[in-house]
Formats: sequence, structure tokens, C-alpha cells
Amino acid sequence: MRKMMSGLLLTMGLFLTVVVPATLVSAQGITVPSSEITIDGKKPARFNHDTHLKLGVECGQCHHDAKHQPLSEAGITAMESGEQLRCVNCHNQKLSNSKLQKPKQIFHARCRGCHKEGVKGKKGPGKCSSCHLKKKPAKPIEGC
Ligand code: HEC
Ligand code: HEC
Ligand code: HEC
Ligand code: HEC
Repeated sequence: MRKMMSGLLLTMGLFLTVVVPATLVSAQGITVPSSEITIDGKKPARFNHDTHLKLGVECGQCHHDAKHQPLSEAGITAMESGEQLRCVNCHNQKLSNSKLQKPKQIFHARCRGCHKEGVKGKKGPGKCSSCHLKKKPAKPIEGC
């Protein structure tokens, strides 16, 4: 019985290692970062897509285009690079709205705003250290 179980687990393990990455990596375009990323800047912060997508949050609640229209998952995965998703590409001194030029303004509005408000009654953490890292990581963001 033991032997059979471990055989079964081994097969499952093999199955998982083969199948899981195949569903995550598409042949073309970009996909949701599968592990925690670091939002780089003067005060780097952690962000995990998984935790947030499990809440039922849509891509477009955070990602939008140059006209501030929400981006769909299909729209994002059809992109060739994640470069155009970078928030500071648009949110800098060239943006006409002076209240949305600095990282702190946009990220605190988006991230802290929702953490305070919550999603379906579930709030997000509010302490500085729940998002901000103590040390700047060697590797700024996944995929760079
Ligand atoms: C929900 C997540 C979250 C929490 C909580 C949070 N921040 Fe941030 N904050 C961010 C993100 C994301 C950035 C963008 C990263 C960057 O620009 O370095 C940022 C940027 C900043 C910046 C701007 C850095 C720069 O480029 O000028 C400062 C300063 C800052 N945070 C201070 C704080 C302090 C102090 C607290 C606690 C009172 C706090 N933050 C709590 C997510 C958070
Ligand atoms: C709760 C907010 C939030 C949601 C929801 C969200 N993202 Fe993101 N995503 C971010 C942030 C913040 C970054 C980092 C952007 C930066 O570095 O400026 C990011 C980065 C990315 C990147 C990497 C871009 C790069 O730098 O190469 C991809 C790809 C991505 N998201 C895809 C998606 C897709 C697809 C969805 C929906 C299935 C989604 N995201 C939902 C906040 C979110
Ligand atoms: C392609 C350009 C572009 C990118 C990339 C971009 N934004 Fe924006 N964003 C805009 C424009 C344009 C507006 C509207 C400005 C105005 O109201 O004057 C806006 C508005 C906002 C606002 C204020 C309105 C609102 O939706 O609450 C926040 C907060 C914001 N963006 C956060 C982000 C974050 C966080 C990211 C990265 C995940 C991001 N933006 C990526 C162009 C962009
Ligand atoms: C639409 C609402 C919403 C937005 C936008 C949002 N969060 Fe959250 N976040 C939450 C909620 C709710 C939780 C608690 C999830 C749980 O307990 O399962 C959470 C949890 C977290 C956590 C702790 C769990 C983990 O994933 O490690 C961190 C760190 C975090 N968020 C960072 C951020 C940052 C940084 C941003 C902006 C780029 C952001 N969040 C944007 C709702 C949001």
C-alpha cells in the first residue's frame, strides 16, 4: 500500500512538474508574473498577483492604457513585453495631472486605498512594512 501510494505521489509529482509550467507559459505574449514581484523605486515594495487575483480583482482595476481605459487579461497577454504596463512609464513629470506624477501618489492611491476599503469585506494590510522591503533586492523586478 505504502509503495503504491508513493508511486502514485511520484507520478503526480511528475505530472505536476510537467503540466503546471506549460499552462503558465504561453508561446507568445506575456503572462501574469507567477511569483511575488518587487515594485522598484526609492522605497521598493512587494506585490503578489496571486493573492490579489484570488480575491476576484480584475487586471483592469490596476492596469490601464494611455487613455486610462482598463486593460483586459486578453489585452495584456497579447502584448509582447511588460514594459508598457510599468506604471512610472506614464506616471512621471510628462503626465499633465500633477497629482499623479509621483510613485507615492499613484501607488498609495491604488494600493493603500483598496487595502483600507477592502474587497468583499476583506481588508489589506496597512503597515508600511507589510508592503515596503527593508533592503533593496539585487533583482528589481521579475523578468528584467
Ligand atoms: C499597500 C502597500 C503600501 C503600504 C501599506 C505603504 N506603501 Fe509606500 N509605496 C507603495 C508602493 C508600491 C510604492 C512605490 C515604490 C517606490 O516608488 O519606491 C510606494 C512608495 C512610497 C514612497 C515614495 C518613494 C519615492 O519614490 O519617492 C514613500 C516615501 C513611501 N511609499 C512611504 C510609505 C510609508 C511611510 C508607509 C507607512 C505609513 C507606506 N509607504 C505604506 C506601497 C505601500
Ligand atoms: C491589484 C493590482 C494588480 C492587478 C489586479 C493585476 N496587476 Fe499586474 N501588475 C501590478 C503592478 C503594480 C505591477 C508592477 C508594475 C510596475 O513595475 O510598474 C504589475 C506587473 C504586471 C506584469 C509585469 C510587467 C513587467 O514589468 O514586465 C504583468 C505581465 C502583469 N502585471 C499582468 C497582469 C495580468 C494579466 C493581470 C490580470 C489577470 C494583472 N496583472 C492584474 C498590479 C496588478
Ligand atoms: C499607458 C500609460 C499609463 C500606465 C502604464 C499607467 N497609467 Fe495610471 N493613469 C494614466 C492616465 C492617462 C490617467 C488619467 C490621468 C488623469 O486623470 O489626468 C491615469 C490615472 C491613474 C490613477 C488615478 C485614477 C484612478 O484610476 O484611480 C491612478 C491611481 C493610477 N493611474 C495608477 C496607476 C498604476 C498603479 C499603474 C501601474 C499598475 C498605472 N497607473 C499605469 C496612464 C497610465
Ligand atoms: C482591489 C483591492 C486591492 C488593491 C488594488 C491592492 N491590494 Fe493588496 N491586498 C488586498 C487585500 C484584500 C489583501 C488581503 C488578502 C488576503 O488576506 O487574502 C491584500 C494583501 C496584500 C499584501 C499581503 C499579502 C501578500 O500578497 O503578500 C501585500 C504585500 C499587498 N496586498 C500589497 C499591495 C500592493 C503593493 C498593491 C498595489 C500595487 C496592492 N496590494 C493593491 C487588496 C488590494
